Amino acid sequence: MTAKATFIQKSTEWVRKSRSVDANLKDYFKACKTFRWASVEKEFSWHKTKKVNIVHEIVDRHAEGARKNKVALYFWDPTPSGAHPSGRDEKYTFLDLKRLSSRFGNILKKYRIKKGDRVGVFLPRTPELYVSILGTHRVGAIPVPLFEAFMEAAIEDRLGNSEASFLVTTPELLRRVPWTRLKSLKHIILVQGEGAAAAPSLGPLSYHFYAEEMARASDFLEPVWLTLDDGLVIHYTSGSTGKSKGVLHRQYAMVGHYQTSKWSLDLREDDVYWCTADPGWVTGTSYGIYGPWSLGVSSVVLGGRFSADRWYEAIQKFQVTIWYSAPTAFRLLMAQGKELPKKYNLKSIRHICSVGEPLNPEALRWIRSITGKAPHETWWMTETGMHIICNYPSLDFKLGATGRSFPGTYASVVNDEGKEVPPNTLGHLVVRVGWPSMMKEIWKNKTKFEEYFKIKGWYLSGDTAYKDKEGFIWFAGRADDVIKTAGERVGPFEVESALIQHPAVAEAGVIGKPDEIRGQIVKAFVSLRKGYGASDILKKEISEFVKKNLAAHAAPREVEFVEKVPKTRSGKIMRRVLRAWDQGLPVGDISTMEE
Ligand code: WTA
Repeated sequence: MTAKATFIQKSTEWVRKSRSVDANLKDYFKACKTFRWASVEKEFSWHKTKKVNIVHEIVDRHAEGARKNKVALYFWDPTPSGAHPSGRDEKYTFLDLKRLSSRFGNILKKYRIKKGDRVGVFLPRTPELYVSILGTHRVGAIPVPLFEAFMEAAIEDRLGNSEASFLVTTPELLRRVPWTRLKSLKHIILVQGEGAAAAPSLGPLSYHFYAEEMARASDFLEPVWLTLDDGLVIHYTSGSTGKSKGVLHRQYAMVGHYQTSKWSLDLREDDVYWCTADPGWVTGTSYGIYGPWSLGVSSVVLGGRFSADRWYEAIQKFQVTIWYSAPTAFRLLMAQGKELPKKYNLKSIRHICSVGEPLNPEALRWIRSITGKAPHETWWMTETGMHIICNYPSLDFKLGATGRSFPGTYASVVNDEGKEVPPNTLGHLVVRVGWPSMMKEIWKNKTKFEEYFKIKGWYLSGDTAYKDKEGFIWFAGRADDVIKTAGERVGPFEVESALIQHPAVAEAGVIGKPDEIRGQIVKAFVSLRKGYGASDILKKEISEFVKKNLAAHAAPREVEFVEKVPKTRSGKIMRRVLRAWDQGLPVGDISTMEE
């Protein structure tokens, strides 16, 4: 068992909570004994009506009740653009979302999109992105959100594998969609750029403009009623081998989103909640759409790129009470210094959560020093669909510890034989199967799905961890080669495949290199084809090439030229050796290495 190093400091310091702390989950230990998931089912309309569709639970039932005129979505993007010269500052009530998603659903219906069909949603973080996802749910179809930084190769893999027949995008992003190679794609809706001038040439594909179609569509559309087992959303995510995998969730996942949003995010009726994640990633749907809106809570969405100024301003402007973000973001804010946050009033914040990578004590302390609140860890994965290990608002925790199993779930640490190990022993981080938001399948890949369950009764996360004597779980690293950079999951294979498309690259091996701000950065070891000489300019060009073809966040920030990329005799890249080279450590046993 070896853990891949991630930048983390351990600490024995505690974050203590006052006994009188007001939290939705008052007694964690009692809840662990008494809580049953079945009790949460009563919170949903389908419990009585037997009619299931998430859009009803997160939008319609609020729009038809007391929360009708409550703001569901505050959208702010001050960046001027062609369509919005003074930026955007908009509010949408639950009723607005019901009407807009009905219109979008009617567009989908017009183009014969039906239950179970996949709809690619490739949009920047804008209200249209949320409306598209909600409208897709309304017709019972399955959204496939695509992060806006994805380039051609990434888009081709995801839309190709999911066989999406419908795509919502912008004219600008459309340039990265290799539609001639996407045989299942039939219709495209373009947001912005209406009118003939923007009309692209799309051969046999039918394309339409969002604003025109929305203006014509009816405000009313009853959701298509589904079963709890029907598909909810597909998120593509990376493993250590092969292309990205489509993680399919089921409608029943809403039970998990609801309860974790209540107990771990501690969301309440009057909160203003800001989840900084993009719906291209699972945090942006589970906790940027489903969880908060199942509780009828107002959410803030900030468009545009990261900017420390704008982030602080957003907290002040919307009087954010609950903030859900990631360690890299906290470290980026920290890097901007102490003076900047003093310009803003951050006192509205009541609770902060963190996800995606280990929260180092230094970042925790710093955020606490500027907001008065310590960020709380939430550990989970695309595949788990919901929080599994957390620190809770009413429970003391050790700085740096990942936390404790969410009531009604059981996470533990096992050895290679699947036996739970004694305290302070490193092992595989596993979760007892059977929590509500567990993935339904890996899209069209049964073998990959089964790999997660090869230890009977457990879901194998791929992370390594240990449990201390008090029962806290401490994340240690990955057991495989998956890279986590700035909280985003990157598969080395995808990057290597992109690298070898470059004319100068003969072979490439990719690893995650520990980094103080980003947790890890993508580092590529590259051997050159004959006739190409190593130079800094070439390194830059190779990195840019990945940026242009795959995605900016997956592009290597470091490129090192090597004579030969180390491989086993069967041709597998020995990333263990690359990591040792990178750290200047002994390479260990290389008896399986090819000559
Ligand atoms: C890592 C993100 C340490 C972990 C929701 C996991 C974390 C992977 C934490 C899943 C945390 C997530 N502390 N590591 N609190 N949360 N991770 O699928 O390695 O993008 O396996 O889901 O992120 O990443 P994914």
